[in-house]
Amino acid sequence: MIQIEKLRKVYRSGDRTVTAVDDVDLTVREGEVFGVLGRSGAGKSTLLRCVNLLERPDSGRVLVDGRDLLALKGGALREARRGIGMIHQHFGLLSSRTVAGNVAFPLEVMGVPRAERAGRVAELLELVGLTEHAGAYPAQISGGQKQRVGIARALAGRPKVLLSDEATSALDPETTASILELLRDLNRRLGLTVLLITHEMEVVKRICDSAAVMRAGRFVESGPVQRLLMEPGSELARGLFPLPEPDVRPGTTVVDVTFEGDSADRPFVSSLARTYAIDVNILGGAVEQIGDTRIGRLRVELPGDPELNAAQLAHLRESGLTVEVHGTSLEGAR
Ligand SMILES: Nc1ncnc2c1ncn2[C@@H]1O[C@H](COP(=O)(O)OP(=O)(O)OP(=O)(O)O)[C@@H](O)[C@H]1O
Ligand SMILES: [Mg+2]
Repeated sequence: MIQIEKLRKVYRSGDRTVTAVDDVDLTVREGEVFGVLGRSGAGKSTLLRCVNLLERPDSGRVLVDGRDLLALKGGALREARRGIGMIHQHFGLLSSRTVAGNVAFPLEVMGVPRAERAGRVAELLELVGLTEHAGAYPAQISGGQKQRVGIARALAGRPKVLLSDEATSALDPETTASILELLRDLNRRLGLTVLLITHEMEVVKRICDSAAVMRAGRFVESGPVQRLLMEPGSELARGLFPLPEPDVRPGTTVVDVTFEGDSADRPFVSSLARTYAIDVNILGGAVEQIGDTRIGRLRVELPGDPELNAAQLAHLRESGLTVEVHGTSLEGAR
């Protein structure tokens, strides 16, 4: 549904140039929720703004619903952009208009006749659960309700794609959860494809099918969330399972073991302890529900150097677990 090829955006001001998006490739399949994570300044907003051409890329291709946006002009481009809705962190509502008036605004711009507008506004408000607040002004509703207005407004042109730039960053955790649920629901019911950017793991955990981690204008990892989490060295996994750098005691091996689905139910710790007659020390960890599966990470300490534990580590890997070994005791002793 969204295909981005070798996208590049450079900002130039005076003698300073910033490559905000640096040759990014991205594919978002129809009906998918795709999350882009990254620190401040990584280029996330710039990337998103290039998808609906709020920002003109320097090079690369942007295809949305099969249309090459950079090749379109005038009416054809306006029409294509209508198929892309967008929501923002700070909602951007018109304070002098009611909830219904805000939702009607894009319909007026599109030239939808007045008689049709009222029905369409009612339908949109129903979709986001705001029917009762149609006559309220933005100052009279909560942040979560404001974002619902933002979503209704973004859906006015019946877009196939919704772009979201930190839509829940200004909301408390409970409201965030309800907005994420609404987005997931719209994604399923309308088949809406969602490309969102966020710095919250919670967002990825709750609604993203796929994700990418962006740093300095580039994607450092990208793919289905469950797959990424099982990849050794995944930054996404480190974000989801925040464990401090371990203090590896000499003569021990500290390993982070990541497990998925079935293996979550397999007691690999006791199996390891029994098979090799060793004490396995659990140092930390957590299990998270990701989509339809559970993924967990456990940090364990084994007696002996990693070289001595080669068989134990192989045993874990052969059980389908992702194994990451922390600095050896030799390094620790230096
Ligand atoms: N209009 C602009 N002119 C010049 N530089 C810009 C402009 N917009 C963004 N940049 C620069 O491009 C880089 C990427 O900015 P961008 O806003 O895309 O990052 P971001 O990942 O969305 O960050 P945040 O999480 O803080 O929103 C930054 O170095 C930023 O300073
Ligand atoms: Mg941003």
